[in-house]
Amino acid sequence: MSSKQTSDTYIPLASDTELVRRFLDRVDPPQTLSAAEEQDLLNRLKQTLQEKNAKLVAHYYVDSVLQDLAEASGGFVGDSLEMARFGHDCDADILVVAGVRFMGESAKILSPDKKVLMPTLEATCSLDIACPIESFSAFCDEHADREVVVYANTSAAVKARSDWVVTSSIALDVVEHLAEQGKKILWAPDRHLGHYIQQTTGADMLLWDAACIVHEEFKARGLIDMKKVYPEAAVLAHPESPASVLEIADVVGSTTQIIKAAQSLPQMDIIVATDQGIFHKLQQLAPQKNFIIAPTAGNDATCRSCANCPWMAMNSLQRMLMSLEAENNEIEVDAQLAEKAMIPLQRMLNFAAELNVKVEGKA
Ligand code: 13P
Ligand code: SF4
Repeated sequence: MSSKQTSDTYIPLASDTELVRRFLDRVDPPQTLSAAEEQDLLNRLKQTLQEKNAKLVAHYYVDSVLQDLAEASGGFVGDSLEMARFGHDCDADILVVAGVRFMGESAKILSPDKKVLMPTLEATCSLDIACPIESFSAFCDEHADREVVVYANTSAAVKARSDWVVTSSIALDVVEHLAEQGKKILWAPDRHLGHYIQQTTGADMLLWDAACIVHEEFKARGLIDMKKVYPEAAVLAHPESPASVLEIADVVGSTTQIIKAAQSLPQMDIIVATDQGIFHKLQQLAPQKNFIIAPTAGNDATCRSCANCPWMAMNSLQRMLMSLEAENNEIEVDAQLAEKAMIPLQRMLNFAAELNVKVEGKA
């Protein structure tokens, strides 16, 4: 980070390793299902979704069975911008969000009249955890001359304190637009994405200091070694990865942008630096290609999370059916907060529509 970017209000949190360990120590590992049990759950879910006029909206990182169910039942699989848009535009009474909590909250804020359920309310995100509203708000107050742009991976309260909410698929365009207007930016919470945007746009950005525990584990040195084994390979990376990894990447983009690039690039070997859940869609859409996960930290203690978001992995068929049948695990957002958070979220959707960022995403 340059001195201009350095935040002097870094909040010392438990280390990322500790955060993951503590979390993994108290969650039950996903139950293994027989093929018959899985089919039974799928049948019951399909029927219940239909009976309740409910739509399943899933992220690319969740289990492939959930992604397939979303598509087979008239729901949707996508990146976080597309999920927000689908939830907002569809006419379901209930949205079942298979992803992490901020995705459920965004859906609720944008569709206050819909009931929003999640398989578990415990599925959070390290970026959300590392940006508590009290210290974030104080940081904004200290830098009141800056336009506040926050990543969607934040709480409703943080969104309500912002001028703009962005996802990784649109963050560059929004910041470029603001920089053209001569605006100085306060960015939170992902430092790698913030740094990447700052380097690409040249905007004056002050960065919050947090990172995604999954993407931060991708390592440039291992990637360089892997490129020696696959010299012709293209490297596709999510911008939550460290700068040293992004520098090597041929394409940097959101999950949908990565999928589109994998389809359109001529290379047959594709090294991917993001959560492994995306491989399901990659293999579906480009079955002739060879997808390889980018190297992570290796055998250290956090490796249970390597390229596999522990919170996304909490979404299961059993939990989803229990939540949908009982209509529990409902996302609730305080009405006043939701009203405030709706403004920057809607601003993002309007901006995306103007840019013609269609449901398929903009690669
Ligand atoms: P996308 O917006 O690219 O889907 O990313 C969301 C996310 O949480 C990545 O870790
Ligand atoms: Fe959050 Fe990282 Fe998981 Fe995405 S992959 S939900 S940024 S912890």
